[in-house]
Amino acid sequence: MKGIILAGGSGTRLYPLTISTSKQMLPVYDKPMVFYPLSVLMEAGIRDILIISTPADIDNFKKLLGDGSDFGIRLFYEVQPSPDGLAQAFIIGEKFIDGEACAMILGDNIFHGDDFGNILRAAVVDAENGMSTIFGYRVDDPQRFGVVVFDEEGNVADIEEKPANPRSNYCVTGLYFYDKDVVGHSKTIVPSDRNELEITDLNRIYLENKSLKVKLLNDSFTWWDTGTFDSLIEASVYVHEYYKRTGLTINSPEQVSFEQGWISKEKLLTLATRYGKSPYGAYLKKIAERGSV
Ligand code: TTP
Repeated sequence: MKGIILAGGSGTRLYPLTISTSKQMLPVYDKPMVFYPLSVLMEAGIRDILIISTPADIDNFKKLLGDGSDFGIRLFYEVQPSPDGLAQAFIIGEKFIDGEACAMILGDNIFHGDDFGNILRAAVVDAENGMSTIFGYRVDDPQRFGVVVFDEEGNVADIEEKPANPRSNYCVTGLYFYDKDVVGHSKTIVPSDRNELEITDLNRIYLENKSLKVKLLNDSFTWWDTGTFDSLIEASVYVHEYYKRTGLTINSPEQVSFEQGWISKEKLLTLATRYGKSPYGAYLKKIAERGSV
């Protein structure tokens, strides 16, 4: 099973913040935004991960994350020359995917909720057996997203991209687990009116083939696409509040790696030291010394 983090785009809704830096490098409380989606793929057990970003930003991702060995994983990098749509990631990633099943998460998506590890691992097993999974989440403003349409029996009947009159409040989040046919299907998609290869068109192919599960995330879940000023600050406040309440930070890739048994206590202590006087470094030291959470 392979994984992709799509971390390009223009970030125009965050201007001027994103004129000279990638959105996915911006802080969400104690760590860069890209750490959050990275830790989700790692929690799913995925250890081969491709990071796709813009020609201007890719080197900064390499500087931040390196070859992945600090996280006990292998990281690869590709450029998306221009933001031509989410489904293009699978065409850019064709060599990396190499005929396997592949997950993708958007670089600005943050997830937190009960039992997420088990949900993710189930999606991996399904994708490896030819059944793809996407995740639905209830929102107040579904017209901004791909929206799940249900029939009278509650089955998924369709997925509509940014509909003016949404037929449900469930949007499709930016986390997808596809089977090994994902590259072939992506190549059949034609650009939309806004000239993008739409992930909704890919999802519709799987839906028509009856090989798509739409897993609805329950009320214990919090999800943001942190592409606006409001969602960015809300996510930061959430991570801060959670830390104050529990003494735990969420979505730390170093911690996930340690808990997966991919890096040793000594390695985690070295990483903690590398972060100098940062409280995030002190947090990792505490996790290493406790041995677990
Ligand atoms: P969006 O938030 O839809 O787009 P954006 O990041 O360009 O922002 P804005 O609308 O403010 O200009 O993208 C969702 C995520 O997907 C985000 O992490 C960027 C990424 N993305 C790409 O990497 N390539 C693409 O072609 C697109 C459309 C998005």
